[in-house]
Amino acid sequence: MCGIIGYSGQISVSTKPLEVCLQGLGRLEYRGYDSAGVALAAPGMEEVAWKKKAGRLSNLEESLKKNPLPGAQVAIGHTRWATNGVPSDVNAHPHISQDNKIALIHNGIIENAAALKFDLESEGYTFVSATDTEVAAKLLGKIANQIIEETGTPNLFEAVRRMARMLTGAFTILAVDVRQPDIVVGARHDSPLVVGLGDGESFLGSDVAAFVAYTKEALELGQDQAVQIQGGNVTVTDFDGNVATPKHFTVDWDASAAEKGGWPSFMDKEIHEDPEAVAQTLLGRFDLDGSLNLDEVHIDEEVFRSIDKIIVIACGTASYAGFVAKYAIEHWVRIPVEVELAHEFRYRDPILTPRTLVVAISQSGETMDTLMALRHAREQGSRVLAICNTQGSTIPREADAVLYTHAGPEIAVASTKAFVAQITAAYLLGLYLAQVKGTMYRDEIQDILRDLRAMPEKIQWVLDNQADTIHDAAQKLINAHSFLFLGRHVGYPVALEGALKLKEIAYTFTEGFAAGELKHGPIALVEEDEPVVVIVPSPRGRNILHDKIISNIQEVKARGAFTVAVAEEGDPDVEQYADVIFWRPQCPTLMSPLVDVVPLQLFAMDTAELKKLDVDKPRNLAKSVTVE
Ligand code: G6P
Repeated sequence: MCGIIGYSGQISVSTKPLEVCLQGLGRLEYRGYDSAGVALAAPGMEEVAWKKKAGRLSNLEESLKKNPLPGAQVAIGHTRWATNGVPSDVNAHPHISQDNKIALIHNGIIENAAALKFDLESEGYTFVSATDTEVAAKLLGKIANQIIEETGTPNLFEAVRRMARMLTGAFTILAVDVRQPDIVVGARHDSPLVVGLGDGESFLGSDVAAFVAYTKEALELGQDQAVQIQGGNVTVTDFDGNVATPKHFTVDWDASAAEKGGWPSFMDKEIHEDPEAVAQTLLGRFDLDGSLNLDEVHIDEEVFRSIDKIIVIACGTASYAGFVAKYAIEHWVRIPVEVELAHEFRYRDPILTPRTLVVAISQSGETMDTLMALRHAREQGSRVLAICNTQGSTIPREADAVLYTHAGPEIAVASTKAFVAQITAAYLLGLYLAQVKGTMYRDEIQDILRDLRAMPEKIQWVLDNQADTIHDAAQKLINAHSFLFLGRHVGYPVALEGALKLKEIAYTFTEGFAAGELKHGPIALVEEDEPVVVIVPSPRGRNILHDKIISNIQEVKARGAFTVAVAEEGDPDVEQYADVIFWRPQCPTLMSPLVDVVPLQLFAMDTAELKKLDVDKPRNLAKSVTVE
């Protein structure tokens, strides 16, 4: 939600600061794409140079081609997901101080903006936009001038800290000041900011994607910290000015991983990375004797042994991954697993004890709802383990422990490869708990791990063999007004995820249901040609589930539905009743979500593409939802 970048170089006037910003904004655009803007400062400038445009980054780039900005030493750039004020040129960031000396960009919501604005207006400050950010820009200009009056010298770092102490809500703020044209200052509270360490140059970014093309060396900025970058020098303090030592880390993926690499869209590329996401998440988590080793999470085995309940907190796709894991972990570990939408969790007085393990699942590691739920759980004395895909992000930093998914950067707004990686990581956690608690025999665990290791190949089979059938189905159903998705057992959360994908990127009204619920209401929606997508469990193993789902297909078919089944290769009953079948290779029931979601991801993508929609950047959405 809003992408932020800042750059400070060694050379007093060059085109690099602007280039860095535009390049970084290109990589951050998935965080928001309502408008984009940049501001620059260089020695000798009287006022900051800036430009901003509503719409995609390309609009800003076009405008910069027509009216170029001057060279500079420092720059800040912003791509917006509107919270306060409609997407427009005037509401775009940066916002500028009354005297045009300072430019400021912001991610988050300043909750006391109205009160601050009222005071500023009474002092003669004027406002042109409807944003809380402009209030911060005017306020920062005022504070910076007060400091000059008090001390005779400008001190943007101190001004930003003073302002940060006055703001409530969530914010990451970056600012530049023409009177100190070699520094960029940032501050964060409940919103992300990381620092990139270059050679004689430094970067600030909402996440490492902002600067990974230039450096992989990075610092995590803590909660309520401010930072000043000046060429290669970085200073971090708390909001009172006490110097802090941030944690250093090295980004474990290349810039090329965040590029399309010849694929028509990031979503297409990322779906095709599903097998790799599972394989990478399994990698390096075993001892030589094959037993699971999660030492990296830094929770004692003794503590794991004492856990008597798990609560998964997450939003969107991540919550469905948690829902899948519930079936497996309860079966393997014999302890209750609750799955709760993070935004509901902390408002219902959940029962949390020191023996509850709260598992926060988040691709971005920044979802504000999940972060707030995590904090609540920790305040109540429970341990929180994060399953996360993004190094240096807030959720793993604030959790007691982290199990990283190694899916690589996920850029398309609709989550795909992160989902299969999250299920894999949650399964590893479940099997590890079974191992330390002794609820399963060692060879049982080994069998399941063997099944899990076989999954990348099975996912690949779906990608290699089912794409044409899926594309044809998308073509056939392109004009459908709505869809129903049905599943039982682990197929139920897969149905929910398949339905979410179609809503998110194809804008088709879609609902996912537990198939057993059909007769309790949803079947009333079925009319002639209504498409119903059904996740069919294997006819082998728990075939009672299979038979019930086949009955459900017959029930909707009898009422005129057009049925699409995701089913195991060669299932004779499905062949008899379904209009279209997306086949999966044979695999155990608990493994099936890892393959079953793949055709649904492709189906949503194909439908959106056939409708000529932007599959990577669906309307109204953003990838990192850093507001509640
Ligand atoms: C947003 C995204 C979803 C994502 C959800 C949770 O709503 O559009 O794709 O599933 O946030 O995100 P997280 O980063 O916490 O997994």
